[in-house]
Amino acid sequence: MITSVLPVDPLLPDPDSIARAAEVLRQGGLVAFPTETVYGLGAHALDAAAVQRIFIAKGRPASNPVIIHIAELDQVHALASSWPETAARLAERFWPGPLTLVLPRRDAVPDVVTAGGPTVAIRLPAHPVALALLRASGIPIAAPSANRSMELSPTLAWHVLRGLDGLIDLVLDGGPTVGGLESTVIDVSVSPVRLLRPGLVTPAEIEAIVGPIEHVVKPVSGEIAASPGMLARHYAPRTPLDLVEGRNDEYVHGLVRAGLRIVWLTREEGQEISDARIVRMPADPGRYAAALYATLHALDEEGFDRIIVEAPPEEGAWLAIRDRLRRAATR
Ligand code: TXA
Ligand code: MG
Repeated sequence: MITSVLPVDPLLPDPDSIARAAEVLRQGGLVAFPTETVYGLGAHALDAAAVQRIFIAKGRPASNPVIIHIAELDQVHALASSWPETAARLAERFWPGPLTLVLPRRDAVPDVVTAGGPTVAIRLPAHPVALALLRASGIPIAAPSANRSMELSPTLAWHVLRGLDGLIDLVLDGGPTVGGLESTVIDVSVSPVRLLRPGLVTPAEIEAIVGPIEHVVKPVSGEIAASPGMLARHYAPRTPLDLVEGRNDEYVHGLVRAGLRIVWLTREEGQEISDARIVRMPADPGRYAAALYATLHALDEEGFDRIIVEAPPEEGAWLAIRDRLRRAATR
């Protein structure tokens, strides 16, 4: 299969390009498109064969359900069998935006979407290209991140092609995605609601709307995941990555002395180390999140032996960043 790339203006996408992508989706094809978080790999959510193609292209285990994207709040009711008060309040505050709600499913949703489970994950994204595509196609779009399973999520079109060139029909290239990390996933089918995946919306922002939430303890390597997608190793560059507390110069020096080609992602001013590349990451969590995957994708192309990352705090807006880095470091 030849994968076409169609440039689109991220703010005012050309209707002809959107119409072409929408037609591919309606016919059961796969289209990668930008959202405000990362690029998604879309398929017609109510067409089981089309969604199956997502799993094949990504090499994704059938046990990991995918998120359905919608353009209008009303579309929820065709997919979810109930709409709890907590869901209504969270949607009112955060949609369109980087929040995914897990709800009891309707039978109309194919099993392949939900991995056979009783719930369905739904998100109303904020990106103009995603919304234009949803409206033009007139269908709900199932879309995981547009990367091979376990690998880094894409924040640029070439990141999508790194993993999926020749495996999907089309990429809508709308430039960099501004958020840079995946949506927050909240299970609102239970009470109190549960945080299944930290993301761009922080726990404090959610608790301000619905009160105390339960945090799912993240599984360590080898444990059974509490949520299907909570795999210990995930979001990983191909280069081995170490997450290191503080500025552990001794550890890095040791690797350099052992002859390894090292790149070190720090958040502080520090002295240069001979033979190790230093990349200074933003001190602000929003800017760090926006830059993280793009930095890792680019470094991955350079053939380092090891990427060392100075661990950020495990709190507030850093929580999702820390979560992704911990999974990237799991080998
Ligand atoms: O920002 C995002 O959420 C991006 C963009 C494209 O929307 N999508 C994304 O999808 O990150 P994906 O498939 O890479 O991650 C979806 C997460 C996985 O951890 C999956 O297990 C979880 O959501 N999930 C999906 N459906 C679920 C369900 N019914 N119950 C529990 N978790 C679910
Ligand atoms: Mg993903």
